[in-house]
Amino acid sequence: MKTPPNMFMLLSLTLFFLSSIYFSKSNASDDFFCNADDKAALLKIRDHFGGPNGRLDDWDNNTECCDWNFVGCGRPYPGRVTGVTIGRGWGLSGTLPAEFGDLPYLSMLSLAEMPKVTGPIPNSFSKLKRLENLDLGSNSLSGPIPEFLGKLKRLQEVDLSNNKLSGAIPASLDNLQSLSQFNVSFNQLCGAIPTGLSKFAKSSFEHNKCLCDAPLAPCKGGLASTK
Ligand SMILES: *[C@@H]1O[C@H](CO)[C@@H](O)[C@H](O)[C@H]1NC(C)=O
Ligand SMILES: *[C@@H]1O[C@H](CO)[C@@H](O)[C@H](O)[C@H]1NC(C)=O
Repeated sequence: MKTPPNMFMLLSLTLFFLSSIYFSKSNASDDFFCNADDKAALLKIRDHFGGPNGRLDDWDNNTECCDWNFVGCGRPYPGRVTGVTIGRGWGLSGTLPAEFGDLPYLSMLSLAEMPKVTGPIPNSFSKLKRLENLDLGSNSLSGPIPEFLGKLKRLQEVDLSNNKLSGAIPASLDNLQSLSQFNVSFNQLCGAIPTGLSKFAKSSFEHNKCLCDAPLAPCKGGLASTK
């Protein structure tokens, strides 16, 4: 029996629709579908920085967070947020929200050149076990460089320069085998530079209160024991 031409059309239209549904679904789960926990954390961060009409106003609950400005999701973790790179000088103000620590797949966090971003580096950042690049340069952060940074073994690049950080550089940072860039210049740090960091340039340490030892000048007398 001869199939009428309109049956062919129906069949191919059906196939076309089925395949487009299939492809949009697989595409969504790879690139655009946003993990609900990650989205909830990002919305709390948005609300911390001024709410839905604030500086992060395109972080809209009705859209997929992987499409938001400054947010990256990536393989091999479909739908998980792997990068938050806020535009330099984007003008956020306030403390760093603890909820950044609730993005367990984060490998890149950049929030820099915002003089109204103040306060300490939150303890919750100790949960960011996949963090490779931390750029918090040229804000107004205060308090110590946290000891736990030494436990974030994947760290490769750390820029904390040009803030108001004080205290010593924790000796735990000696443990960071993958560290290839490090900058804590222009802070109020004091004490001996851990030997594992002596390979970095002077300009990574200059303009602090009283940092000493290589690559800067040797610590004098009791300074080295100022932990
Ligand atoms: C986002 O939308 C979900 C689902 O509609 C809802 O359960 C959740 O409370 C919303 N979150 C915020 C912060 O508005
Ligand atoms: C460290 O940062 C300061 C100021 O942000 C900059 O002037 C200096 O060149 C940087 N040094 C390195 C080694 O990146």
